[in-house]
Amino acid sequence: MTANELRRAYLEFFKSKNHTVISGKSLIPENDPTVLFTTAGMHPLVPYILGEKHPGGTRLVNYQKCIRTIDIEAVGDTSHLTLFEMLGNWSLGDYFKDESIRMSYEFLTERLGIDPAKLSVTVFAGDDDVPADKESAAIWQSLGIPSERIYFLGREDNWWGPAGATGPCGPDTEIFIDTGLPGTPESRPGVSDGKYLEIWNNVFMQYQKNADGSYTPMSRQCVDTGMGIERTITILQGKTTVYDTELFQPILAELSRLAGKSYGDDPDVDVSMRIIADHVRTAAFILGDENSVVPSNVGQGYILRRLIRRAVRHGRKIGLEGRFLEKPARIILDMYGAVYPSLVRDVASVVHEFNQEEEKFLETLKKGEHEFEKMLPNLMKNPAKTIPGRVAFRLYDTFGFPVEITEELAAEHGMTVKRDEFDAAFKEHQEKSKLDTNQTFKGGLADHSDQTTRLHTATHLLHKALKIVLGDHVAQKGSNITAERLRFDFSHPEKMSAEQLQRVESIVNEQIMRDLPVTWKQTTLADAQKDGATALFGERYEEVVKVYTIGDFSIEVCGGPHVERTGELGSFRIAKEQSSSQGVRRIKAVLE
Ligand code: ALA
Repeated sequence: MTANELRRAYLEFFKSKNHTVISGKSLIPENDPTVLFTTAGMHPLVPYILGEKHPGGTRLVNYQKCIRTIDIEAVGDTSHLTLFEMLGNWSLGDYFKDESIRMSYEFLTERLGIDPAKLSVTVFAGDDDVPADKESAAIWQSLGIPSERIYFLGREDNWWGPAGATGPCGPDTEIFIDTGLPGTPESRPGVSDGKYLEIWNNVFMQYQKNADGSYTPMSRQCVDTGMGIERTITILQGKTTVYDTELFQPILAELSRLAGKSYGDDPDVDVSMRIIADHVRTAAFILGDENSVVPSNVGQGYILRRLIRRAVRHGRKIGLEGRFLEKPARIILDMYGAVYPSLVRDVASVVHEFNQEEEKFLETLKKGEHEFEKMLPNLMKNPAKTIPGRVAFRLYDTFGFPVEITEELAAEHGMTVKRDEFDAAFKEHQEKSKLDTNQTFKGGLADHSDQTTRLHTATHLLHKALKIVLGDHVAQKGSNITAERLRFDFSHPEKMSAEQLQRVESIVNEQIMRDLPVTWKQTTLADAQKDGATALFGERYEEVVKVYTIGDFSIEVCGGPHVERTGELGSFRIAKEQSSSQGVRRIKAVLE
């Protein structure tokens, strides 16, 4: 079964179980400062798990592109990827463990034809706060999974949530397939040695975590599941690595052709080719996202830059000296364009960004090499034939020259880099930025605090006020909300004048003073359009949508959440107006 067939089979199966198919969302979360990328299908659904009503009802299903940069170092093995597609089905206060596990089992064994003897599962072992999930274990057993293939594991493996410090959370049960690979003496589900491959995770949101750290059982229980497409088709196709599937073979074939080296001959070459394939794929998806970003030194742009540069470095390892990413990138855009249309919306600019970033990095490498040549005579005087770590670090810090390349050059002259010294300097340097970044990666769950909700409502007021002051050509190009401020990108050809800014500000503040009610209703996209609701009508939206109305002032298609009355917002102030890109302006604003 191919990825395309699996995607379809999953949606069809859950449709037959009364689930509504909803569209996946952008890789760049719009109103969530806790993560850089969408990490799971549940991520855009957090408000509904927390209790908002979803227009699709209480049973949902979809596929979602996800990025988990936390796995970047593991890429190159048989199954870890920075980007993967997640199939998910949800119960929002509808079915719970029994139906969820039974549906998973039916889909795997009957629809996909997986041999039940190859399945193992894990369930939550329990701890001081919450008892073991014996219920899930009993359901698995009733389906015929023997107790020796049901593993009770701790919080690290079998717990998910809450969103933030408090909120809904619960145990999960993970489904593994025995790949048939030899593994190690430590092999068991949850140990990544290739033998057991996790393909599906069912999370049972049944507890409320309280501020004092205790857990209270919830009356409204939700199910959140996620199945990895790449891993599942690997199994279905009888392959042992995700790279042997149709999703990666064309990319690897192209890399082999370009490098003049075949895949499958030399393990080092294979690992580099896998890393390149993975990284180009993820970079193409970021550049071709609905909320595309370009390489930079912050946030998502920085991850994108790292992925492209790491791909270039591995390119050099397999003998690719000049630019080479365009061809594999085009293969990826082609392969996925029909499933994710934003990828092929502007192929030329995706390719341009790849080329430009590659050029920049090649230039960095050239400068670094030149600098290295200059230092060489002095370095050669050291009889120990070692290069001090701080020298390598200076090359890295000043010229962005990767230490691996310094090591390569050193080796050409019979020298080695004192890697431990470099690592120490590097670590020190990283401490601060790592603090920031980890903060953002750990989340995985959205922030829907009161302040972000207020800023979200203010964004609607701002959007409408801009249309009033500047004209109807104003359209949303992006939105990003942190606990401190909102950021709104919109189409407008020129800088706004001080007077225009002031008018926008006072229109928004006037609506806040009027203490307008914020209400929503469920309707079809066509009706919303007829009602004059603002929406990105060009994008894929569900058939049924939520429309938020703010008094007589604004009407917009949106998932929420929002405040109940505008009076809750406080005072609105525009902190900055600047250019975002050609024809797009950016406003940052705060509520005080
Ligand atoms: N959200 C769950 C996961 O990502 C399904 O594993």
